[in-house]
Amino acid sequence: MSKLSIMAYTVGILFFLVSCSFSIFYGYKVVSYELPNEEKTLEKFDYHIVLVTEELDNEYWRLVEKGAKEAAGKYGVQLEYAGPKQANIDDHVKTIEMSAASKVDGILTQGLSDEQFTPLINRVVAKGIPVITVDTDTLNSKRMAYIGTDNYYSGFLAGKALIADTKGNTNVAIITGSFYANHMQQRVKGFQDAVKAQKRIHIIAVEESEISRVKAAEKANQILQDHPDVNAFFGTSALDGIEIAQVVEKYKKQDQIYIIGFDTLPETLSFIRKGTIKATVVQEPFQMGYGAVKMMIDLIEGKKVSPIVHTDTRILRIRDLPVNHPDRMGEHE
Ligand code: BGC
Repeated sequence: MSKLSIMAYTVGILFFLVSCSFSIFYGYKVVSYELPNEEKTLEKFDYHIVLVTEELDNEYWRLVEKGAKEAAGKYGVQLEYAGPKQANIDDHVKTIEMSAASKVDGILTQGLSDEQFTPLINRVVAKGIPVITVDTDTLNSKRMAYIGTDNYYSGFLAGKALIADTKGNTNVAIITGSFYANHMQQRVKGFQDAVKAQKRIHIIAVEESEISRVKAAEKANQILQDHPDVNAFFGTSALDGIEIAQVVEKYKKQDQIYIIGFDTLPETLSFIRKGTIKATVVQEPFQMGYGAVKMMIDLIEGKKVSPIVHTDTRILRIRDLPVNHPDRMGEHE
């Protein structure tokens, strides 16, 4: 055998041995690879609860979701957050119906209007799915419990704050989230009742924003055109006050017009710091979400829950804000 053929054989044998060891090594890896089995990958949850809100990406509802998720994590519950991207009552109703059809263990949702939500909630409950209303209630429905602000009282507080903060003839325009929603009606009513004995205070307009920023701004603009004598605004849902403030600043009227809003979203707090919004009604969306999940678990497990749980509400003004502190209100438990 020539030297060349010996070398060729050696290289061939070496190559053969190396490939054999690779095949054995990777062959072993393939055989011993553990396929993910369902038990290992899917977390096990005790219950599947859905939180259906009127507007998915609304910052206020994201805080409710945050509270609900925290409770869900703590108690081993699968929480789904669902609802229309932008407020739309038909989509809201459909989402509740779909959740009920998929046989979830419990539904948390708003009792928005008696007309549409009472029969809907009653149908869902009749199927054996418990419903808890959050943020706004349909008192006459068969919902198991309500957790959220005492909406009449919160409106009443807003009226009292306006009385305390203003002097002389005060012409108030109200921009409300919706004419048909229970909580919006109650907030307006509470406000009207609080100011009704005051001869110097006149409610000169009540308009609807459909909880849309654009509509709230349009309405504020319109009110300023139609009522040049307006010197106070009350915005009854989370985005109304913010948009009123933008419009009032645009017309450079922030020194002549008193604004009271609702909720403590970061933009509202920064308008309070600037002095454009003078006061806002605090709600506790995180607590609502957290408490609603906890209550639902108790209900499913046959424990007694109180039918009405009112979360805190109060007035906040610039003097109540911590100095040099990030605006992260409404996120605590
Ligand atoms: C209300 C919510 C509403 C939100 C709209 C809040 O004040 O409690 O029901 O969806 O405002 O921005």
